[in-house]
Amino acid sequence: MKKLLLTGGARLNGTVEIGGSKNGCLAIMAGALLGKGETVLRGVPSIGDVHTMIEVLRALGVKCEMEAQGLLRIDATEISKTEAPYELVKKMRASFSVLGPVLARKGYAKVPMPGGCDIGARPIDFHVKGIQALGAIINIDHGFVEAEAEQLIGTQIYLNFPSAGATQHIMTTACLAKGVTTIYNAAAEPEVVALAAFLNRMGAKIEGAGTTTVRIEGVEELRGTEFAMIPDRMEAGTFAVATTITRGDVRIENIVPEDVEPFVLKLREVGAIVDVYDSAMRVRCNERPIATDIMTMPHPGFPTDLQQPFTAMLSIAQGTSLVTENVYERRFKYINELIRMGADIKQEGRTAVINGVPKLTGAQVAATDLRAGAALVCAALAAEGQSEVSGLEHIERGYEDLVGKLRSLGANINLVTDEQEKEAVCV
Ligand code: EPZ
Repeated sequence: MKKLLLTGGARLNGTVEIGGSKNGCLAIMAGALLGKGETVLRGVPSIGDVHTMIEVLRALGVKCEMEAQGLLRIDATEISKTEAPYELVKKMRASFSVLGPVLARKGYAKVPMPGGCDIGARPIDFHVKGIQALGAIINIDHGFVEAEAEQLIGTQIYLNFPSAGATQHIMTTACLAKGVTTIYNAAAEPEVVALAAFLNRMGAKIEGAGTTTVRIEGVEELRGTEFAMIPDRMEAGTFAVATTITRGDVRIENIVPEDVEPFVLKLREVGAIVDVYDSAMRVRCNERPIATDIMTMPHPGFPTDLQQPFTAMLSIAQGTSLVTENVYERRFKYINELIRMGADIKQEGRTAVINGVPKLTGAQVAATDLRAGAALVCAALAAEGQSEVSGLEHIERGYEDLVGKLRSLGANINLVTDEQEKEAVCV
């Protein structure tokens, strides 16, 4: 196992470059399955989830190669297999979204049902309902979803909740359907907009991405294309929180201003000074943050993926904050770990009541999911003394070189493997 050792107190300072969007990339890699010919993606982050998705595409017989400097080549001219392996899909929910594009290309697909995780049950009923509505015969048993369709037919689909994944999955699948598909109550996340732009470059005809109604006119065939990944707004938000909680001064390069607006406005509410430029922002905070309230919502609401890091910051704010998690039913598990560091937080249903304390103290804590890990790292950067954050495998799923980037900003952080720890003890 690997873990992080951090000694808090350093005020982060300097410049950090944000990588490509994990969530945008995973949806686009699934979308690339629709195209005959080579697709070249630039600005792809070298993170665990991307490597898992590369394995999934290869398991389908698709050529997929990550080259240096974040360049990913995919050639889905041939899809020789129609079943995605269980051991890969169980590692990463997003790989379920290969079902629709493989079905659209091959007339059949079989994908294991993704498990839930520590933030909620995360069912796939909206995905299945959408693909069924496009005319697929769906059979679910033995933990697999099988889909079969000679020809997908355009239709109207209403989503009970603006699910990002279901919007992306249905939008992708509908590109090769006969006729027009309209998705109502669609998700408007920037990653949905990026996917639509990518698919349109492949020859799709998608309108309305970024609004609640997306229209897809089916076409005969899509071709591989070139595409540059959008920046990862969650990584940007994580560094903005790390800067604020340590009362630092950091320039965060490679952002899309309108995509980060939901949490920049909240950062200013807690007292951070945030100057936003064309593709960068400077975050400064000289005082202890001020308490505020957060309600996570689908975009353009406050992003659920930043709820956890923000809560870590609010745990040392002046005053009491209320954080309400409206997207997932179980995304407060990490609070017990913050309490071990001295936080005063009480969970009441979907709301956490945070009484800010003057400081946190270092402790041994465990990350249970990707963003919980980010939250604990942010807390440890500000805590008095040393912290040990285990569960690094979660963090490495979504953050490229987090240790290197934080160290370049002055953080006292080291990655330790069990072997190194044993050697240290022996000495
Ligand atoms: C995407 O997950 C992101 N993951 C999540 O980021 C993000 O938290 C989420 O969107 C919301 O923005 C990727 O893009 C790979 P949803 P997704 O479908 O698509 C319920 C991270 O840390 N739902 O928008 O799976 C679901 O249970 C991850 O980077 C159904 O009930 O999220 C949840 O309560 C975590 N049935 C709500 O909708 C369905 O069929 C929103 O989920 C689908 C979803």
